[in-house]
Amino acid sequence: MSNLKHKKAIITGGGRGLGKATAIAFAKEGIDVAITGRNETVLKATAAELEALGVKAIYSVFDVGHYEQVKSSIKDIIDTLGGVDILVNNAGIAAIGSFNDMPVEQWSEMIQTNVMGMYYVTKEVLPHLIDQNGGDIFNVSSTAGLNGNPNISAYCASKFAVIGMSESLMKEVRKNNIRVITLTPSTIESDMTIELGIAKEGSHENVLQPEDFAELIVSGLKLPRRAMMKSAALWSTNP
Ligand SMILES: NC(=O)c1ccc[n+]([C@@H]2O[C@H](COP(=O)([O-])OP(=O)(O)OC[C@H]3O[C@@H](n4cnc5c(N)ncnc54)[C@H](OP(=O)(O)O)[C@@H]3O)[C@@H](O)[C@H]2O)c1
Repeated sequence: MSNLKHKKAIITGGGRGLGKATAIAFAKEGIDVAITGRNETVLKATAAELEALGVKAIYSVFDVGHYEQVKSSIKDIIDTLGGVDILVNNAGIAAIGSFNDMPVEQWSEMIQTNVMGMYYVTKEVLPHLIDQNGGDIFNVSSTAGLNGNPNISAYCASKFAVIGMSESLMKEVRKNNIRVITLTPSTIESDMTIELGIAKEGSHENVLQPEDFAELIVSGLKLPRRAMMKSAALWSTNP
């Protein structure tokens, strides 16, 4: 089992939802964590919760869809953390709307955030992992990255793209002892799914919870370095 204590992680969208649950699970393993997002109030509160678990916890406010912001923020994070071992590309947005009704700007924003954002952040972190000949990158796609469905074309397009980008990167950097893991979770209770009307608040017994997702990531990290969870689909036992 790998020792995760004092490893350093960056989690995009780490202030709430799946990202926050992952940050808490990491902190419980002794991993120092940097969480990122656009809402400083939320990030600050989550960082305080993480610090209370006894690890170094910092936050950084930037939009993953803006390359210049990503570039300078990731540099600052890595300088402050004193390195980086783990990246969880989790920040993302979703919206429902028919192909014709969804405004062009909203369609583009989903691609800009979910695809370009992941690309920008990874591009800035990757050289550090290559230099140290090791690291782990978790890329959050979705079941929506595996199957198209009506009224969700932009989100599906973005999550299909994540799988292509993630698998290509995995094959490129496996030789550098960097594990790139593509995750395709099904519906998990979070702000996103509650706002979309596909999960109900407080439905703990029936619907996947962010903690379940976090547990999957930690179990991937704990595999011996010779082994890699190439991809993982998290499904509920209650269809
Ligand atoms: N929940 C599910 O059922 C489910 C299933 C499959 C995949 N996913 C994926 O899992 C990831 C997390 O989802 P979630 O359910 O936790 O959603 P959520 O509760 O809505 O949280 C989304 C996170 O992404 C951050 N974010 C969004 N746009 C951003 C931007 N432009 N720049 C920086 N940060 C941004 C948000 O932070 P700020 O608000 O502070 O910017 C927030 O922390 C997403 O990629 C989602 O597509 C979720």
